[in-house]
Amino acid sequence: MVDYDPFSPEVMSGNVHPIYKQLRDEAPAYFLEKYNAWVLSRFDDIWNASLDTDNLLCGEGTTSAQVLLKVQPVTPMVNTMDPPDHTDVRVGLRKWFLPGYIRKTEAMVQEVIDRLFAQCKDRDEFDVMGDFASQISVTTVCMLCGFPLEDADKLNDLVWRFFGREEGVDGMTEDGLAAMTEMAVYFGELTAKRRAGPAQDDLVDMFLNLDVGGRKLSDEEIGSHLSMLMIGGSETFPRTFAQFMRRLAEHPEQRAECAADASLLPNAYVETLRYDMPTQFLCRTVAHPVEYHGKTFEPGQGVCLVYPSGNRDEREFENPDVFDIHREIPRHLSFGQGIHLCLGQHVAKLEARLCMEKVLGEMPDYEVDVERGDWFRTDFVQGFASLPVRPNQG
Ligand code: HEM
Repeated sequence: MVDYDPFSPEVMSGNVHPIYKQLRDEAPAYFLEKYNAWVLSRFDDIWNASLDTDNLLCGEGTTSAQVLLKVQPVTPMVNTMDPPDHTDVRVGLRKWFLPGYIRKTEAMVQEVIDRLFAQCKDRDEFDVMGDFASQISVTTVCMLCGFPLEDADKLNDLVWRFFGREEGVDGMTEDGLAAMTEMAVYFGELTAKRRAGPAQDDLVDMFLNLDVGGRKLSDEEIGSHLSMLMIGGSETFPRTFAQFMRRLAEHPEQRAECAADASLLPNAYVETLRYDMPTQFLCRTVAHPVEYHGKTFEPGQGVCLVYPSGNRDEREFENPDVFDIHREIPRHLSFGQGIHLCLGQHVAKLEARLCMEKVLGEMPDYEVDVERGDWFRTDFVQGFASLPVRPNQG
């Protein structure tokens, strides 16, 4: 019998795939009585649920702290909106995340990577998260969105506090909630300053001029959207990059192929995302009754979409537990699907390619010390909080 609780220590310890397999095989629509929510774990179900924006809504929030525990307030951000308002915001944002626009930032991102890597590579050991990848992602979001670069460290700190977890406390900590408020205040003030100043061609100005449902947004509302971009854009990439380093180190023959041919890197990164998706699940709330596997999901109930399980579903992928940079991956769930499909996916892909080109170009035989890495033990996001890397330059 399946016994799954996303907050149980076993699930949060990181060894999630045995229980996810059991869910897929034995209880593909699993009811979490304690939280009045359903769990979908098969690839097709998560895919279809993500597309079903008539019946499954985001307006009540999408995190476990919002939908299951109801401890995190829901402020309208692009990811917690439903059509038609979501469409207005999404259309406004789209331009800033098109591959062509992202490519224009490539030289700037490269500069940041070069500077940080230079500080890491001659050391006996560095932390790929704290010393390298997380600084890159925060700085990149600042550059993309028009946030002051001198505030990157402060924002990085707020993001990590937001995701902090405490043993024995389900969901967000008080400090995490405080960090969320501090971030909203920071971005509300930034918006007010920008409103009073000269126009600039960037994403903050886009929000100042945006019509949502026929009206302009307040500073506070824009602040929420900007916080979401900061959080969504800066936390996930470093975790996926740490796993990218780890998996290539564990498969030296695949790493050598990537070092010899950088054109393999984009697919190798997507394979890492499939294999090690950090976000364990996001939620929806049922608006109208829907049926999955003979079970009716009733209005008001939550639905958890367990992406890493779908990404290892043997109904979709052959030998899903094998890491293979040559695998053909026509579709995966790591960036979600449907109207909320990750806007930043091309940003993450650019960061991953440039970072890994740098690493393999300068220290192709690096070692990672998984044993000494800190594991981020949460129901929501899993992956390394730190991962020591040794350049191993012989
Ligand atoms: C590897 C890194 C990343 C992963 C794994 C990831 C994952 C996801 C997922 C699963 C969703 C869907 C949420 C849902 O359906 O409820 C999403 C949405 C989103 N992501 Fe990402 N993301 C990444 C990087 C980024 C970056 C770098 C940015 C911005 C710079 C970003 C911005 C967004 C935004 C704005 C949305 C909401 C889109 C909407 O609701 O219309 N993400 N992301």
